[in-house]
Amino acid sequence: MILIVGGAGYIGSHVNKALNEAGYETIILDNLSYGHKESIKWGTFVKCDLADVNKVDEIFTKYDITAVMHFSSFIDVGESVTNPEKYYYNNVVNTMNLLHVMLKHDVKKFIFSSTCATYGIPQKIPLVEDHPQNPINPYGMTKLMVEKILHDYDEAYGLKSVILRYFNASGADKTAEIGEWHNPETHLIPLILDAALGKREDIKIFGTDYDTPDGTCIRDYIHVTDLADAHIRSLKYLEDNNESNQFNLGNGLGFSVREVIESVKNVTGRDFKVTETTRREGDPAILIGSSEKANKILGWNPQYTNIDQIVETAWKWHQKLNQE
Ligand SMILES: NC(=O)c1ccc[n+]([C@@H]2O[C@H](COP(=O)([O-])OP(=O)(O)OC[C@H]3O[C@@H](n4cnc5c(N)ncnc54)[C@H](O)[C@@H]3O)[C@@H](O)[C@H]2O)c1
Repeated sequence: MILIVGGAGYIGSHVNKALNEAGYETIILDNLSYGHKESIKWGTFVKCDLADVNKVDEIFTKYDITAVMHFSSFIDVGESVTNPEKYYYNNVVNTMNLLHVMLKHDVKKFIFSSTCATYGIPQKIPLVEDHPQNPINPYGMTKLMVEKILHDYDEAYGLKSVILRYFNASGADKTAEIGEWHNPETHLIPLILDAALGKREDIKIFGTDYDTPDGTCIRDYIHVTDLADAHIRSLKYLEDNNESNQFNLGNGLGFSVREVIESVKNVTGRDFKVTETTRREGDPAILIGSSEKANKILGWNPQYTNIDQIVETAWKWHQKLNQE
């Protein structure tokens, strides 16, 4: 059985669906602090906080767990700056709890949700896996710390991990059964969709004077279903090779904030107010990842390469979530 930690959240719930469709049995561990019970439509759910080591231990005793996928962490970059303790505790200490119980039960296959935020300010675009990792906020630092821990645990205990550094996860399951459901929401596409629904007064563009063709920041949007596919491939990689590795998961394509806003206008057929304001601190002009390594080694090839396609799936889900 595959344990999905944080499987009630956005990305974990899509991976849960993909694993079940691929014939795996899953157990979902989540404390529902940010996730939603309604998003767990497959597998066995156990409500549990990773801080509760005894309960995590009971789960490993009760179920025959062969591998762990770890999505649970706090994800709000801004909050990680104002309240770093919350982030270091949950993202690092609680991950160590999980690894501790895994080692105790001799479970040595681990897939970890890391992030392009571990790279910090890019020195060269597209970002490749061996680009220096210098995170510029505590959130990115927590992920880098876990990456380092995983390296040392492999050397010392033979715990094998695949580290997946996602770029901007986006979109929703194509049947809109599940989708992006963060509260508070900080991600661009759902925020623009809220403006399209009239739930927000406007959408703000932070900075229009970047060194990019239209002056707004460019990001790499990767569809959540493509991310799910990469997790299944990573699991097979661990099963077949029993060695640790790290992969970027991005589209290799960038879209500017203005392009994403235009796409939402096209897809929804709605107009809304766009307010241009000054830059936010710590936003690099361009973040685009190279996923050539994942393509070569995992045979991974993202299917959603067009921003309209991505926004269409997000819009379908967003309307359902808001019962429009
Ligand atoms: N969303 C993105 O664009 C993105 C990009 C890069 C990396 N990531 C990483 O991917 C992972 C999943 O992101 P997401 O967008 O699905 O986030 P999410 O908040 O939707 O999901 C995280 C889940 O973990 C659970 N959780 C948190 N702390 C827990 C604890 N102590 N015990 C048990 N459950 C706990 C939450 O209830 C939630 O269901 C995170 O680790 C995040 O850092 C996400």
